[in-house]
Amino acid sequence: MNNLSCVNLSKSFLIRNEQLDVLENINLNINENEKVAITGKSGSGKSTLLHILAGLDEPTSGHVFLNNDNLSNLKKDILNKIRLENFGFVYQFHHLLDDLTIEENIKIPSLLNNSYNKSKKIFIGDLMKSLDISHRKDHLPWKLSGGEKQRVAIARSIVNNPKFIFLDEPTGNLDSENSTNIHNLLLSTSNKYGIALITATHDNEFIKLFNNVYNLSESKLSIANE
Ligand SMILES: Nc1ncnc2c1ncn2[C@@H]1O[C@H](COP(=O)(O)OP(=O)(O)O)[C@@H](O)[C@H]1O
Ligand SMILES: [Mg+2]
Repeated sequence: MNNLSCVNLSKSFLIRNEQLDVLENINLNINENEKVAITGKSGSGKSTLLHILAGLDEPTSGHVFLNNDNLSNLKKDILNKIRLENFGFVYQFHHLLDDLTIEENIKIPSLLNNSYNKSKKIFIGDLMKSLDISHRKDHLPWKLSGGEKQRVAIARSIVNNPKFIFLDEPTGNLDSENSTNIHNLLLSTSNKYGIALITATHDNEFIKLFNNVYNLSESKLSIANE
């Protein structure tokens, strides 16, 4: 069973010589298959926490562990490899590459870790089918609606069979019908492939679907749904 945890994690930013303490002594333990929501008002540090857990940013103090690996102790190239194989990230504004088709966008993480082959091509075909974007595979991102782009970003985050997907307000810019579709897709995809979801969200309908809900407030993380 894969496990992601952080121990006494703190993050501060220095802005014009003033220290801003965004996260203080955060402890969190997430098992493969768990669905964790992180709530908290804008500016409370949700994105910062997701970025650090996903190895995209470094804590000021404390540690993140993937199984027994302390991410801070890993060399950059090893960390990149571990990230590519274990983590997927879905941004609020999807960050698709404008000049590549939908299928090419989805393929990228598998090219980066040299795992693209015939069976991966078939897997991508299946993924596009289950996310209802197959008919868009040769289109460029600008032709797609917000909900479709977000589904492509989700497919891209899954392509390397990660154990953990981080989602930063994935439905923050969608109407309620598209949001509901994305909620259902994320839950069924997480169940189908056994992937943990770690989601920053304000979306109350979405939050209801999670077993573990945490709230970030005044730099501290507390359980919000006991
Ligand atoms: N790279 C950075 N440099 C300085 N301040 C930052 C940086 N990233 C985030 N912050 C600040 O940290 C706080 C938390 O930001 P963020 O994690 O984006 O919050 P949320 O995602 O909950 O809205 C905010 O006050 C933000 O301005
Ligand atoms: Mg944010």
